[in-house]
Amino acid sequence: MDKNDIIARLNWFYSLEINQVEIYKSQSERFQGEYAGHVFKRVALIEEGHVDNIAEKIRILGGTPSALGEVVSPLIGMSIGTLTSLTGLEKTLFINMQIERKAMEHYKNLIKEVIKSGEDPEGQLCKILHYNLVDEHLHTALFDTMRDSLLEVKIEEI
Ligand SMILES: [Fe+2]
Ligand SMILES: [Fe+2]
Repeated sequence: MDKNDIIARLNWFYSLEINQVEIYKSQSERFQGEYAGHVFKRVALIEEGHVDNIAEKIRILGGTPSALGEVVSPLIGMSIGTLTSLTGLEKTLFINMQIERKAMEHYKNLIKEVIKSGEDPEGQLCKILHYNLVDEHLHTALFDTMRDSLLEVKIEEI
């Protein structure tokens, strides 16, 4: 993997993070007035930070950040439009967790490949990729606990 391959891969992540901002922003509006609405708004802001830090790394490598469209759709087999029109918090959290897990998987693979390529001798790129990976992990765990508490409520209702 050379520098151009890394730029191409980072552009994919740049697009994925843009997609996530769009998804969580739309969900924050959908669940406005509920705790979940605040969660999605906060998570969207964190994803915006990822858009910016990936864009910065692309520029440092001499590339230009370019959005590739709906890269999230093939990951979950659903268009962003369909996803954002989902009602029901449980289903929403479930799909979000799938996206976050896919993002984690892709971040882990890229970190391994960047290390192997020797193109990041100072480890500056991997540092950012790890930061983002940890954030996605936190999002997954957060969505998971929210889903658990929803399920608990359901059981209590029985
Ligand atoms: Fe992210
Ligand atoms: Fe995330």
